[in-house]
Amino acid sequence: MTGRLSNRVAVVIGAAQGIGTAIAERFAEEGAFTIIGDMNAEKGQALADRLGARRACFFEAEISREEDVAALFDFAVKKAGRVDILAQNAGIYPLSMIEDATREHWERVFAVNMTGTFMAARACIPLMKAQKYGRLVFTSSITGTRVVNPGHSAYAATKAGINGFIKAAAVELACHGITVNGVEPGNILTDGLTAGRTVEYIHAMEESIPMGRLGTPRDVANAALFLASDEASYITGTTIVVDGGQVLPESKDFNAGL
Ligand SMILES: NC(=O)c1ccc[n+]([C@@H]2O[C@H](COP(=O)([O-])OP(=O)(O)OC[C@H]3O[C@@H](n4cnc5c(N)ncnc54)[C@H](O)[C@@H]3O)[C@@H](O)[C@H]2O)c1
Repeated sequence: MTGRLSNRVAVVIGAAQGIGTAIAERFAEEGAFTIIGDMNAEKGQALADRLGARRACFFEAEISREEDVAALFDFAVKKAGRVDILAQNAGIYPLSMIEDATREHWERVFAVNMTGTFMAARACIPLMKAQKYGRLVFTSSITGTRVVNPGHSAYAATKAGINGFIKAAAVELACHGITVNGVEPGNILTDGLTAGRTVEYIHAMEESIPMGRLGTPRDVANAALFLASDEASYITGTTIVVDGGQVLPESKDFNAGL
């Protein structure tokens, strides 16, 4: 099916690479005019150029900066007249054990992942209320919501926080025709995931996934597309896990068979 987002205007934040790029591509493929917001101007502009001026444009924004978030939505309204869909996907996942973590580390992860998510949602709510229509789709994670590894405390706390925020926003906004949902990716093959990790670590990740492979950014984007589309109009306050079954095994040896 094509045209699932015909005549819609979408803002996708954190779209210069990885999962966000795939979300912007899927939205544009399905007919949305897609505004790409990211702090990486070079890659963000390159994606907009690739999608073409009829389908997309880029605006440089650092999502933890309140003035950047405001400027992004001002730009969207001037450029496209409305915002129907927000996909807030920008997120960082630096590792630190709790006893080694600095307050700066903790606050930076929260500033981007949690406060950025709140500020982006807050900025587009008045626009969506006026239209009596909106779709908010946030990128959460299986980390912090279902599973976790050592070193992920700040990240896990923000992603669990995003799931709480999704429910709270869904209840506040349901009467205005605005739905609020999220995707929970498992291990998805992106530059962000592979940075600083060994081939052996990636291989061990693959072995822990019942489907035997890491996810692709497009796997996640397809779920985000569904939640952003009219097909999901009676779904709000929930998340879709996109993880190849990663959270399911009861034991590490799940492949041993009987
Ligand atoms: N890759 C995975 O396995 C995985 C798993 C679960 C959840 N996630 C989540 O998916 C999202 C994307 O992950 P990814 O692996 O594609 O990441 P990535 O690092 O490859 O890409 C992240 C994008 O967000 C942008 N970004 C980062 N901080 C920003 C900021 N402050 N302001 C504006 N833009 C900013 C980056 O420039 C980049 O374009 C994140 O929220 C991440 O937590 C990823």
